[in-house]
Amino acid sequence: MPVIIVLGGQYGDEGKGRVVDLVARKAHVAARYSGGNNAGHTVINEFGESRLHLVPAGIFYPDKVCVIGNGVIIDPKVLLEEIDDLQSRGVSFEKLKISDRCHIIMPWHLIIDRVDEELRGKAAIGTTARGVGPCFADKVFRAGIRMADLIDPEGFRERLSFVLPYKNAVLEKLYGVEPLSFEEVYSTYSEYAAKIAGFVTNTAELVQDALDRGETVLLEGAQGTLLDLDAGTYEFVTSAAPSSMASGAGVGIGIGPTQITKVVAVYKAYQTRVGNGPMPTELVGEEGDTLRERGKEYGATTGRPRRCGWFDAVSSRYTFRLNGLTGMVMTRLDILDQYPTIKVCTAYRLDGKVTNIFPSSNRALLRVEPIYEELPGWQKETKDARTFEDLPPQARAYVQRIQELVGCPIDMVSVGPEREQAVIINPII
Ligand code: IMO
Ligand code: MG
Repeated sequence: MPVIIVLGGQYGDEGKGRVVDLVARKAHVAARYSGGNNAGHTVINEFGESRLHLVPAGIFYPDKVCVIGNGVIIDPKVLLEEIDDLQSRGVSFEKLKISDRCHIIMPWHLIIDRVDEELRGKAAIGTTARGVGPCFADKVFRAGIRMADLIDPEGFRERLSFVLPYKNAVLEKLYGVEPLSFEEVYSTYSEYAAKIAGFVTNTAELVQDALDRGETVLLEGAQGTLLDLDAGTYEFVTSAAPSSMASGAGVGIGIGPTQITKVVAVYKAYQTRVGNGPMPTELVGEEGDTLRERGKEYGATTGRPRRCGWFDAVSSRYTFRLNGLTGMVMTRLDILDQYPTIKVCTAYRLDGKVTNIFPSSNRALLRVEPIYEELPGWQKETKDARTFEDLPPQARAYVQRIQELVGCPIDMVSVGPEREQAVIINPII
C-alpha cells in the first residue's frame, strides 16, 4: 500500500504537475491534498498543454481514480471551467472524485482578498487574488461552507442564511463594500452544485479502501514549502490549512502518517518566486531578465513575471529536512544549457557570520548575502537525455553537487516540459 507524496521544495511552480503527469502512470489513485486554484500546474502531453488549477495531474490517464481531497478548497466556477476545457479536448472525468469535506471559495472571499491587499498597501502579499487566504481563514474561523453543505439544497440554504448576513456585515461595516444578495448567491451556487454533485463523495474512505487493496496512491502537493504558513517566509506565504508540506498530506486526504511511504520534493535547477517576500538568491536586472526569458518564467495562474535567481542550497536543505524527503526531483535543467558558468548558493553571510541555517525572520532574510560557488556550464542541449550518462559531464557534476549540498538523493531530472523529457535515476514509483 505505497503512498507517495510529490510536493514543492521551493516557492511553488517547481514542476509538480509535470512530475505527477509522468509518474501517475504507475499509480492507481492520484490526488490533490492542499491549496486551491492559486495553484497552476502546467502539463504537456498527448492532450496538448494544460494548466491545471484544481484537477489532479493524474487526470490524463482514464484508468486512474483522481481525487480532490478534503484539504483542497474549491471555487466551483473555476472547477467547472477547468473540467469543460479538458473535456472538450477529450480528457475523461469518469473517475474524478471530490471530497464532501472540501471548503468552498465564495464570492466574499474573492472580494476580501482584493480589498485586503489594497489595505495592506506597500505590505501587500502579492496574492493570486483567487480568494484563497480568506477561504482558508474562514475554515479555521469556523465560518466556512463545505462541499457537503453546498450540494444539499436545504443544507445550503440553511448554512448560507447564517453565513451570508454575517459576511455582509463584515463587508459593509469593516470593508465598506456593497453587501451580496442572498438570492443571487444561492441560485448561482446551487447551479454549480447541481453540476458538481455527481463527483462528490467521502474520498477518505475511498483512498483507505484503495490502500487496503494494496493499491498505489500518489499525492500531489500545491505551492511550495517556502510558501508554507509555518515553514515559509511569513507573512509572504499562502494560507493553506493543512499545510502543503509532507506533514499536511495525510490530513488533506484522510490517512495517517504511518501510511506514507515516500516523500519526494520537486526543485527547479534554479529558483523562482512570484509575489512579494524575501528571496535571497534573486537576480535583479539583466541577469534575472535573461533567466526569466530562457525559462519563460511567467505565472501559470496570473501571468505575472516570476522573480528568478540561482539555486539556493540553504533553503533547499531546509525544506529537505522539514519534509523528511526520501528523494528530490530536479526540473528545468535544460534552461541552464547555455550558461558558461552556473552559480549555486552554498551558504548565507548574515551580519558578518557564515550560516547554512535558513533564518526565520524576514528582516534577516532580506539582509543575508548569498555565498556562491561557481560551477562550469555544459553549453550543450540536454533535452534528449534519458539516462544520467546521456547528460554532459558538467551537467552531471551540477546535479551531483546539488545532491551533496542538499543532502538528498536526486531521483529524476527533467530536461524539457514534455512527459518523456526526463532522466530517471531511481524510479519514484
Ligand atoms: P503552484 O501549486 C507559486 C503565492 C502567491 C503569493 C502567495 C500568497 O503552482 O506551485 P495566495 O493567492 O495563495 O494567497 O498567495 O503565494 N502562490 C504561489 N506561487 N506557485 C503557486 O502554486 C502558488 N500559490 C500561491 O504568488 O505570493
Ligand atoms: Mg504553478
